[in-house]
Amino acid sequence: MENKKIELIRLLSQTESKPISGEQIGRKLEISRTMVWKYIQSLQSQGYSIISSPGKGYILNSVPDSLLPELVQAGLETDILGKDIRHFMELESTNDYAKTIARDANEGTVILAESQKKGRGRKGFDWVSPQGGIWMSIVLKPSIVPADASKLTLLGGLAVVDSLKSIGLNPSLKWPNDVLVNGKKICGILTEMEAEIDRVEYIVLGLGINLNFDTDMLPEEIRDGSTTISDELGNYVDRLEFFRSLLYNLEQYYIHFKTQSFEELMERWIDSSDTIGRNVRIVTPSKMVDGRAIGISLSGGLLLQKNDGSTEEIMSGRCIY
Ligand code: BTN
Repeated sequence: MENKKIELIRLLSQTESKPISGEQIGRKLEISRTMVWKYIQSLQSQGYSIISSPGKGYILNSVPDSLLPELVQAGLETDILGKDIRHFMELESTNDYAKTIARDANEGTVILAESQKKGRGRKGFDWVSPQGGIWMSIVLKPSIVPADASKLTLLGGLAVVDSLKSIGLNPSLKWPNDVLVNGKKICGILTEMEAEIDRVEYIVLGLGINLNFDTDMLPEEIRDGSTTISDELGNYVDRLEFFRSLLYNLEQYYIHFKTQSFEELMERWIDSSDTIGRNVRIVTPSKMVDGRAIGISLSGGLLLQKNDGSTEEIMSGRCIY
């Protein structure tokens, strides 16, 4: 059912303003005209505006502004990510949901919510997630040791940077998990995992991207330090296209990560970094360290040159500057 629906959306999108007849659709999808009508009705009930002109056929007028799986998949160019998309109008948290299904889910399964009631940020902070953003979690099952999991946060950041660049923004990366535009946070990444001492069972890579909404929607205390894509560009962007491009970029980096060395990704991260070269303070649950950020280690940690001249590798913490 879902595959035929995806094919139907693809077909309707390709024919642009020319009607395509029920008979033509039926022939291409190898289904009866009654089934074509059923699929059309089902799409219409989901918010697709499909004009049916008697004797001529169907025209796709507009699609719903929801990241519905069949809509995403109709133009998706990935092999692993997004083959299974679970879409919700509202969830407490996509990361929490992803963790309940991760063990039995295929690698690359994506959980998407149009809004979150209890979105979670790092270190127990709330993550405000109104409609218009992209709130998603991806289940990944790489064969890695737990110490390497933080590298996935870095490659998630790289993918977001590429997608933001493709719509004309000039993003940068703040270690460990923020993407900034004009010095303000536009995306946060929350990587969580289930692991044994020497083996990761699964990773949930959670990405929150402030896309088509006004920063006024955010609580006052984070408003000044945050931005959204629509605020930066002065117009809304195509969420569907942005989401597809993000999944594509993520997959490219993920395949590179699994099949090649981390070195090139690390260099890319440094090239887009806002943190490297700055004097920073890193706060961890057990200590506070001041120094100059001088690089990223091969394990994905931040290399900090301390005031006494020594270098320390920090694997996680809050970075303040
Ligand atoms: C941070 O910068 O503190 C990380 C924010 C991560 C937010 C995303 S939104 C989708 C996913 N689900 C959650 O509950 N959190 C992450």
